[in-house]
Amino acid sequence: MSLATRGHTFDGIEEFDNRLPNWWLWSFYLACIFSVGYWIHFHTLGTGHLPQAAFLAEQQEIAARLEAELAKNPVTDESLLKLSKEGGVVAEGEKAFMAEGVSCKFCHKPDGSGLTGPNLTDKFWVYGGKPLDIYTTIMEGRPNGMPPWKQNGSMWAQRVTAYVLAKVKHTNVAGGLPPQGKEEQ
Ligand code: HEC
Repeated sequence: MSLATRGHTFDGIEEFDNRLPNWWLWSFYLACIFSVGYWIHFHTLGTGHLPQAAFLAEQQEIAARLEAELAKNPVTDESLLKLSKEGGVVAEGEKAFMAEGVSCKFCHKPDGSGLTGPNLTDKFWVYGGKPLDIYTTIMEGRPNGMPPWKQNGSMWAQRVTAYVLAKVKHTNVAGGLPPQGKEEQ
């Protein structure tokens, strides 16, 4: 340590002109080098998952495992309710509901409040509002204009049902189509 000063004073206070400690300099240099690698890995090449994407990937992995498990068992009210609590499954169902072209939103509106197809946000259901009723409606279709979606497979219909249960049913969107069918018990 030398006792040289920087040559200025403030209110009589002077500043020593010391060398920065090596440990400090090296952690600074290493941080600079690390930041270049970090930037290239995450932002230039995109080979790494940033926290949000990593979280989503993890959720999708859990969802895939759960789905594989459920595919072995029959579809029930309980199994559908369980799926409706899985963020990854509901997110996949939402994608299907909102897909471009003739998807659910095309006839039921993006918020599910009804257009040519009935309001899915109220307590009234023509074909029943229980999880299994909704699943059956989606798989088999209904006579007055609801197309069947069996061709997309059971898991697909389960995901869409999970989305309807989690994010559409009972949201009571204002200004939706008037109730049709029977009130839920
Ligand atoms: C081409 C238009 C159309 C599309 C696309 C469509 N629906 Fe429908 N949906 C209808 C119509 C019309 C009805 C009423 C059928 C009837 O009364 O027989 C209906 C009925 C329903 C019902 C029963 C409502 C009740 O009151 O019981 C549900 C649930 C439903 N649709 C969900 C969906 C979902 C989920 C999708 C996407 C996978 C979808 N619909 C796609 C037109 C459509």
